[in-house]
Order: sequence, then C-alpha cells, then structure tokens
Amino acid sequence: MSLQPEIDGERLLGRLNAFARIGATPAGGVNRQALSAEDRSARRLLAELALERGFAVFQDGMANLFIRREGSDATLPPLLIGSHLDSQPTGGRFDGALGTLSAFEALEALEDAKAQTRMPIEVVAWTNEEGSRFAPGVMGSMAFAGADTAAWKSTVGSDGASLAKELEATIAALPEAAQRPTGMPISGYIELHIEQGPSLEKERISIGVVTAVQGTRWLEVSIQGTAGHAGTTGLAYRRDPMVAAVAAMHRLQATIMPLDADARLTVGRITAQPGSINAIPQSVIFTADLRHPQPERLDAIEAELREVCAAEAEAQDCTAMIRRSFDMPGAAFSPDMIDVVEEAVNSLRLPHKRMISGAFHDALFIARVAPAAMIFVPCRDGLSHNEAEYVEPAHAVTGARVLLQAAIVAASP
Ligand code: GLV
Ligand code: MN
Ligand code: MN
Ligand code: MN
Repeated sequence: MSLQPEIDGERLLGRLNAFARIGATPAGGVNRQALSAEDRSARRLLAELALERGFAVFQDGMANLFIRREGSDATLPPLLIGSHLDSQPTGGRFDGALGTLSAFEALEALEDAKAQTRMPIEVVAWTNEEGSRFAPGVMGSMAFAGADTAAWKSTVGSDGASLAKELEATIAALPEAAQRPTGMPISGYIELHIEQGPSLEKERISIGVVTAVQGTRWLEVSIQGTAGHAGTTGLAYRRDPMVAAVAAMHRLQATIMPLDADARLTVGRITAQPGSINAIPQSVIFTADLRHPQPERLDAIEAELREVCAAEAEAQDCTAMIRRSFDMPGAAFSPDMIDVVEEAVNSLRLPHKRMISGAFHDALFIARVAPAAMIFVPCRDGLSHNEAEYVEPAHAVTGARVLLQAAIVAASP
C-alpha cells in the first residue's frame, strides 16, 4: 500500500541552498544567465539528482530539460510541473529555482510514497525564461508551444555570444539526457513561482492562485544624431541624441504611470555610441518594457511612446527609430486548472486569494497548448530581479505542498 506523499521541507530547502551556490554573487544573489556555464552547472546538478532517483531525463532542441516519472496509463500525455533555472544578471535565488526544485521535490515525494498517478508527471526546467542575456524571454516555452524560432538563429546576446552556439553547447554538455523533438502533447502545466511583488506579504496571505498574466511589450528606441566634439560644439551646432532620449524618457515617466495605475514603463538599459566622455554621442539606444492587463491600453501606451520619442528627436534635429522586439499578449489561465489549484489550497486550509501576475512566466505560452495555472508565494518586500530577493522557508515549503497536491489531482483525473 502506498503512503500519503509528503513534501520533505528540509530536503527542498537544502536543494534551494545548493542551487543558490551555482552562480552565487557576493551580495547573496545569483548570476546564472541563460545558457551560461553556471546555467549548465545547474542543469547538470538537476539531471544528476534525477538519474540517481531512477527518473528518465530528456532535453529538446531548445535545451528545455524534462524529468519523467511514469504513470499507470502510458497512453496519457504527461502533466508538466516546473519553472526555470536561469536568472537575471543580478538575480535572486528563488525566481525560477523555487518552482523547478519544488516540482522535483514533488516528484521525489511521489516516489518516496510509491504513489501512482494515472498520467506520467514530468518536471520541466524551461530554457531562457529571463531574456536578459538573449532576448526575448520565455524562449524555451515559446518554442515548445510552437512559436516560429527561425529569427533566433542569428540572435546575439548582451555579451556578444551566439544563441545558436550556446544552445548547441548546452545540449552537448548533457549527453545523459535523451533527445526529444521540440514540442509534444501534454495534459496540463502547473508552475509555482514567487509573487515578485508585495501584495501577498502585505495582506499576510500565503498562497496566490494566479488566474491570468498581464501583457508585455519590449521596444528598442534608437535615436540618431551627429557625433561631435564636447568642447568645441556650441548649442546651435549640436544634434545630440542624448538630450532627445532624456527628454523623451522624462515626458513618458511623467504621464504613463502617473495617469494609469495599472500601467508599467521601465527603461532598463541605455547605451550611447561611441560612449566617450568627451564626444557628443552619434546614437543613443534605450529599451522600454511596457506592461498592462488590457491589450488596448498597451497599444495606446506604445503609440504614445512612439509619438513622444519622434517629437523629442525632432526637437534636437535627430531621428528616432523604434523597433518592437517582443510582444507577449496577456492571457487567462484555464478555469479547470485554476479550480484544481484552488481545491488543493482549500484541502490544505491555507489563506489564499485569486490574483493576476504582473510578471510574465513560461506558463503564459504553455497555456496556449494545454490547461495551465500558477501558484504564487510571498517574497520579502515584494523584491525580485534583485539579489536581496528572499522567501521565508515556511512559504517555500507551503508552496511546494500546494504544487504536490494540485499535481496529484491533475494527474489522476
Ligand atoms: C519576467 O522575468 C518578467 O520580466 O516578467
Ligand atoms: Mn521567474
Ligand atoms: Mn525573473
Ligand atoms: Mn521571469
């Protein structure tokens, strides 16, 4: 007779610590950017743990990593549970790792208890969720969901590395994993993640049942002027793209978020060419990350950004070119899978609320091919994409318990 599967909290917390050492930064965070040596080390450790437990390990052409435990009905496609192992350049230890390692803990808990599910369950670590080294983010899950990946063949990373070469090397670094074609039928997907915002902690709620994810758009604004001598070029002779970029950013920051509490605008990267202290730049390029739950507002905000950048460039006798590098419409999760998660939370008698996600996640694309849902746990001060990111151990373990319970129900309909 099988036992009731239980999360081993100590084992999970120990694993979170072990993975936090891979790419650890002096300030207590992690730098484990997609397809880097550190990312490969984390993938290797997870694969080794899986093989030790007798689970089968696969990877596909996007280096998405799968760990499979069989169910009783081999004709059913698997239920996927997981998240990502890559991080921001100055990322935290929980963003992605919590969901991936909790999913693996859930698989081990089922194995410890010799519990049978009808469907196979596969833990997945999606490749390049963050998108900070190679844009866009959620590449692995996007490809899995059938996106056209042809344009990525020539993608170059923020460090000059070739995406195609790094993918090839990452796949080759794990010869123990059997090859699997990209994409396959699945029965569903559940992802545990930290909230990355302050609401659960503030409201003292231990679980967020995520019903939808808001839309994201990434733009690259390139303003061209004329390079010139900093000491000799008087105001009347300047075509200075930095002046235009600063004025545009200032205007946008003064209107978009102050006039719409649901809107988000972030300029996270700005570069000037040639980047010399005593030269007027030839060009200034800055990125804009736009978010909104309503698609029509996202359209309106993009239109406003285009107009403001063009006007401020013209005011400096410069030209502005704006390129959309990523458009991820928001989406609602499957009502059935949301119910499965909510029932799991109820069966564990945990305080919870339904909420939408401000961050994008791999679940957003997987929701296009299978019923998907997400579980959030609080993080301290809502901090994420920050080395100080922290999750109370009790919250991490509670999240894993919800994931396990939801997976048991979803995998045995
Ligand atoms: C994911 O990392 C996001 O930026 O929402
Ligand atoms: Mn994440
Ligand atoms: Mn992240
Ligand atoms: Mn993310």
